[in-house]
Amino acid sequence: MAVSVAREHWSSRFAFLMAAIGSAVGLGNIWRFPFITGENGGGAFILIYVFTTTVIALPILIAEIMLGRMGGQSPIQSMMLIVRKHKKSVLWVVLAWGGTLGAFVILSYYSVIGGWALKYTLLAVTDSFANLDPAASGTLFGNFTADPVSLIGWHTAFMAINVGIVVWGLHKGIERAVVFLMPLLFLLLIGMVVYAVSTPGFDQAVDFLFTVDFSKVTSNTFLVAIGQGFFSVSVALGSMMTYGAYLDEDINIPKSAVIIVIADTSVALLAGLAIFPLVFSFALEPSAGPGLIFVTVPIAFAQMEAGYLVGTMFFILLSVAAVTSAISLLEPAVAYIEEAFVLSRRTTAILVGTACWMVGIATAFSFNDWSSFYPLASSGVLVDKTIFDVLDFVATSWVQPGVGILMAVFVGWALSQETVAEALNVDDPTALWFRFWTFLIRVVCPLAVLFVFAGAVWPELVASLMPSSGG
Ligand code: PHE
Repeated sequence: MAVSVAREHWSSRFAFLMAAIGSAVGLGNIWRFPFITGENGGGAFILIYVFTTTVIALPILIAEIMLGRMGGQSPIQSMMLIVRKHKKSVLWVVLAWGGTLGAFVILSYYSVIGGWALKYTLLAVTDSFANLDPAASGTLFGNFTADPVSLIGWHTAFMAINVGIVVWGLHKGIERAVVFLMPLLFLLLIGMVVYAVSTPGFDQAVDFLFTVDFSKVTSNTFLVAIGQGFFSVSVALGSMMTYGAYLDEDINIPKSAVIIVIADTSVALLAGLAIFPLVFSFALEPSAGPGLIFVTVPIAFAQMEAGYLVGTMFFILLSVAAVTSAISLLEPAVAYIEEAFVLSRRTTAILVGTACWMVGIATAFSFNDWSSFYPLASSGVLVDKTIFDVLDFVATSWVQPGVGILMAVFVGWALSQETVAEALNVDDPTALWFRFWTFLIRVVCPLAVLFVFAGAVWPELVASLMPSSGG
């Protein structure tokens, strides 16, 4: 049985916001969002993304931070305390287990991709993109990912940085890192956008990102947008719940959540505005998929005047974003093990980090020696997916929406309105925003997540419900 640990609190609202925005802003914004937007038709996808994130991810984020603050401990221990205090079924604790394990699994492969960011930072600093033509860029990336030793080496470096921060705890580790790294990230990003504005491809990029062509929208666009929103906002994995546990009573959670979502979405859009002008200026392919920033964008760095500087800035930015998210993926499990086994933070962070590192090795091999090993091939589901694909799919398409729906239903239906109003310091429960939020988490969020599940199980049925499914 876990014991309560006296938990430190954030030293200021600013520190909390930097940590939470640091969690939200990550590979999801700078690596995933641009290529997913490229693959899903640009402007129409962005519009749907902004909409679904506002009405689905944001309300759940408020609920999640609130649960964290109510419990004041790791997600698992917090849920145990909450169900005991409010006399709810202990089965609800499954949402915290799901989140904590999901975060652990995501971190195992997030660290491998984070390692790519570190490797590419080194390549940029050593001017290795100079004279890179498209074929050579593909070869560079191909050779790198084909070499498991190299991937594992960079994965090790990334995980070590992450553990190195978490070992120092909330104030000396996480806070000190984020209050320095997040402003740096914003500066780098703005610098890149300012540069991008001066390139010839800027107008075309704005057109691509903000011209809405509804003929490109299918039910799948919604499914992808909802999934991307969950991932990008860091919702339903216990990360934000853990950060909520360290939050003072007087901080306004809904307001903070709105700031986090606005910051996260702005960074994704700014990343698009930084990257696509380069892609268009050099007539490269916007729908290049996961290789967009590792294969396509370096070609632009090779050809542009300030390529060395901009390329270096870009990959430092990417690495910073990845590290500040990884911290929040490690923290839920570390906080729990600390409580459950009464171990020191140092020992716990090293133990959990090492375990996660070991799982990550399977992902490193998924890009080379095991690239045609499909672990579920004989089971009839996910038959053509590598270990990396399976982990990513299960964590982001099943665990995250599943935990999200449980959080929404628990806060919306299981807890009483008075409990929730009190936890959020709402003086007037008849206030319009509070009623609207309650409606969103009670009805809209669960239905939307069910729609995501239905889309995964019966793709044809969901597609046929869409007016423009032929487009
Ligand atoms: N939001 C992070 C990103 O966009 C990933 C993440 C998901 C981090 C869930 C923590 C929890 O990269």
